[in-house]
Amino acid sequence: MDALIHLFVGLHIIGIASLLGGFLTQMKAMGQGTARFVPAMLHGALTMLVTGVILVGLNQAEDYTVNNVKIGVKLALLIVILGLVYVKRDEEKVDKGLFGLVGLLTMANVFIAVMWT
Ligand code: HEM
Repeated sequence: MDALIHLFVGLHIIGIASLLGGFLTQMKAMGQGTARFVPAMLHGALTMLVTGVILVGLNQAEDYTVNNVKIGVKLALLIVILGLVYVKRDEEKVDKGLFGLVGLLTMANVFIAVMWT
């Protein structure tokens, strides 16, 4: 089961790469007010949700301690990210502030994941 958990942590990290990478490719456009939520961001956010929920299940099945408050905060932030990216996925230009917020929340989740012990 540990190998499966590690596999899903790997997939979880591929999800971050897609979400954050998609955001980073739009940073120059964001400065000009022409950034858009690229498909990689939506798919990355969905991957985070699916792999995250599976990771909770796998860890609980093994009786490993899961920090429910930390996971709850990550889930809440991801729901905001996913909601914004999904609703605005077809808009050719997204407001600078809103676009920046998605990047900020994603980075906040990375630091919550690695620093909240
Ligand atoms: C943008 C959103 C998210 C980011 C950037 C993120 C980031 C990370 C990172 C970097 C790790 C590996 C580090 C470690 O093991 O300590 C991790 C592990 C994990 N994530 Fe996420 N995560 C996100 C969303 C979620 C969601 C929504 C859930 C659950 C519903 C979740 C559940 C987990 C679990 C269970 C682990 C492994 C156990 C742990 O260390 O806490 N994650 N996440």
